[in-house]
Amino acid sequence: MSNNKLAARTLELARFGETLASPNPIVGAVIILNGNIVAEGFHRKYGEVHAEVNAVNQALSKNIDLSKCDIYVSLEPCAHHGKTPPCSELIIKHRFKSLAYVSRDPNEKVSGKGIEAIEKAGIKIHHPDSFDIKLQQEALEMNRAFFKIIQGKKQFITLKKAVDHDGKMFIEPGVWKTGEAARKQVHRIRSTHQLIVTSIRTVIADNPQYDVRFSPEELGLADIRNPDILILKSKTDFTDQQRKALKIFDPKYNRKIIEHQIKDISDPVELKIFIESLDYQKILVETGPRLSESFENAAMVDDLIIHSASS
Ligand SMILES: NC(=O)c1ccc[n+]([C@@H]2O[C@H](COP(=O)([O-])OP(=O)(O)OC[C@H]3O[C@@H](n4cnc5c(N)ncnc54)[C@H](OP(=O)(O)O)[C@@H]3O)[C@@H](O)[C@H]2O)c1
Repeated sequence: MSNNKLAARTLELARFGETLASPNPIVGAVIILNGNIVAEGFHRKYGEVHAEVNAVNQALSKNIDLSKCDIYVSLEPCAHHGKTPPCSELIIKHRFKSLAYVSRDPNEKVSGKGIEAIEKAGIKIHHPDSFDIKLQQEALEMNRAFFKIIQGKKQFITLKKAVDHDGKMFIEPGVWKTGEAARKQVHRIRSTHQLIVTSIRTVIADNPQYDVRFSPEELGLADIRNPDILILKSKTDFTDQQRKALKIFDPKYNRKIIEHQIKDISDPVELKIFIESLDYQKILVETGPRLSESFENAAMVDDLIIHSASS
């Protein structure tokens, strides 16, 4: 298997952890013996073991001598004592022949430190520039939320829009014009965010469920989750009848529903202060044109996902 293929596999593995790894980065690792992958791992859940540990444990369970192996990771190994011991120590302890990593970590507690210690221990290092530039970019891209948060941003906000041929958002209630691939992507994005922001208008017009309706396998994830929901309103409120009838309030989804009234919808500061007061790091805005525009006007959008009509 080529170097690039092995690096690509670490990225594929990393993505399986995208539902529950946050606020940690997503990371994948493979262990190679005589050119073949003999063990794999990824970071599945915040607070649980890291990708390298999972891969090492899998190799040890097969009685593999790690001093004869190379290890590839999608992100440089951590060097600090967080919720788990540093992965750089693990790599040194098992005396791997070499370490290859596809992206650097901008986290000051980590950046370069683990690599330095591993190199000092006599283990050969392959830096990101050993790999295809597209893989390097992909490895950085898939952790962009983590990188922003570690550098001081409180939250990472994704705005999703479905637009027509003229670039305007659709506003026909309940109409889905963007095809199966987009639908699947929306469900994956939901699972990888902790909160969906919508509006009273969209909830009444579309009667959405905002749940994840694909299996983990179909979405390339180890776990799926229905995010909590924030419904923003200003002048209107739900009637008792609507609260009973609208799907969003069905307790079967097992999630928290927050409702909040914005006093002045033309004030970007009010929206920003309220959103920043929430204890959610990855937030998906999935609503109509007016509330979407308010997020854009308040310069709160980190990632914009546009699906355009397929016919
Ligand atoms: N194309 C897409 O991607 C997409 C996605 C979702 C929904 N939709 C469609 O969008 C339509 C609804 O769009 P819309 O523009 O009427 O409504 P919207 O953008 O979903 O929501 C606007 C409402 O949100 C409340 N709000 C609270 N804070 C706000 C703020 N800071 N800025 C703006 N609004 C705030 C206000 O509720 P009050 O009424 O209480 O004042 C306001 O009327 C639906 O028909 C739905 O089908 C399209």
